[in-house]
Amino acid sequence: MKPANSGTQPTLIWDFPTRLFHWALAISFALAWLTSESDRWLAVHVFCGYLMLALVGFRVVWGFAGSHFSRFASFGFSPRAAFTYLKEVATGHGARHVGHNPTGSLAIYLLLALAVVISATGILTLGAEERHGLAAGWFSFSQGHFFKQAHELAVNLMLLLVGVHIAGVLVESVVHRENLARAMVNGHKMASPDTPKGKKHRVVAVALLLAMLGFGGWWFAYALQNQWEALPLGQQQAPGIPPARHVRFVGPVLADNAQWRQECGDCHGVFHPSLLPARSWQKMMAEQDKHFGTDLGLDASTTAAVLAFMVANAAETQVTEPAFKIGQSVPAGAAPQRITETHYWTSKHREITASDWASPLVKSKANCAACHADADAGTFEDGAMAIPKAPAPKPKI
Ligand code: HEC
Ligand code: HEC
Repeated sequence: MKPANSGTQPTLIWDFPTRLFHWALAISFALAWLTSESDRWLAVHVFCGYLMLALVGFRVVWGFAGSHFSRFASFGFSPRAAFTYLKEVATGHGARHVGHNPTGSLAIYLLLALAVVISATGILTLGAEERHGLAAGWFSFSQGHFFKQAHELAVNLMLLLVGVHIAGVLVESVVHRENLARAMVNGHKMASPDTPKGKKHRVVAVALLLAMLGFGGWWFAYALQNQWEALPLGQQQAPGIPPARHVRFVGPVLADNAQWRQECGDCHGVFHPSLLPARSWQKMMAEQDKHFGTDLGLDASTTAAVLAFMVANAAETQVTEPAFKIGQSVPAGAAPQRITETHYWTSKHREITASDWASPLVKSKANCAACHADADAGTFEDGAMAIPKAPAPKPKI
């Protein structure tokens, strides 16, 4: 009996662009997943999403223009073939495929489709919930919530599929005694001399790499940086926040009023009216003689002017995501006097530790500007928040 590999020689199966695509997609998905928990990394998260979409676009073109084993024509198996192959592998009869095997092919098509669904629902969520990106303002905040759920569902399916894909690679590697992961790195597999040889396509790979680097450079150095500079935040930034720790998104310019700023920004930073419902502001002004232990002492016409501004721009206007969500989280009829006691606020801040609250750079929960560089503007953008860290005390010698 001949050994399985007799007469075979190392053959280029995966061209450079396909390998680059594969690892770039894996890395961008992993990075997007890692940055999904904290809103503070949204700029990186969104970049990864756009990159994934662009990569899939490239792969579709490459499925027609690439070398033999990169073409869809070389792995256009039916779902039935995929299941048959799975059964064969389970019973130890699965034939070795130099290119993608039927089950692997099905996984690849599903992965590509899911990557598109994830990017698309991500863009819709970003447009609706954060009012940013390609679909900024196309949909309402509540529709954004729906897209977000679809986004998360698609991500979970993708994670599942990635797990299946990796398991498949491991099983195949063991069954056919070849390191499939390494083949996706160096592109080569053992194959008989009549196997169609792949072309390297170095130029396309370099162009793809440059395009990705160019996109990244533009995104982080130019696109977001410009937005950062558009924010008049430099001077108001609280001590302890390093200026460019993460890149910011800019929020909409909210309604402003000089008289309100003057009367309400004296003892604490102003709280934009969109952070509480109109009935809260009405109650607050009606009871202004006992405002958290102080008497505001405003005359009737000032009270009326300030109140009119606050009522006209209260949470009901839904101008920002926080406005919408605070509006949703306050029970009908309730008129909370503290933003920091609304359900939305407490749930957003539940993970902040007691020692961070007690920091001399924070002192009060109501000191929003300590952590939100755009508190004064009222937008509370995801990218504009950072918990200030007091400098470590100098060691005594
Ligand atoms: C004389 C000082 C003073 C002025 C002027 C003042 N406030 Fe206050 N305000 C306070 C104090 C003190 C607190 C409690 C702060 C804390 O808990 O750290 C407070 C708290 C608040 C809070 C609750 C913050 C939270 O915990 O969510 C809101 C809302 C608020 N003020 C709105 C206003 C508005 C609107 C005006 C203008 C009409 C105004 N304040 C003017 C002293 C003032
Ligand atoms: C000690 C720092 C700190 C203070 C003080 C603070 N916040 Fe925050 N806030 C955060 C952090 C951190 C997050 C992000 C939590 C996360 O990763 O989802 C956050 C999230 C938020 C969000 C959600 C933003 C979004 O779109 O998801 C809003 C709105 C918000 N804060 C409003 C306020 C207001 C209003 C005040 C003042 C009354 C305040 N915060 C005070 C640290 C702080």
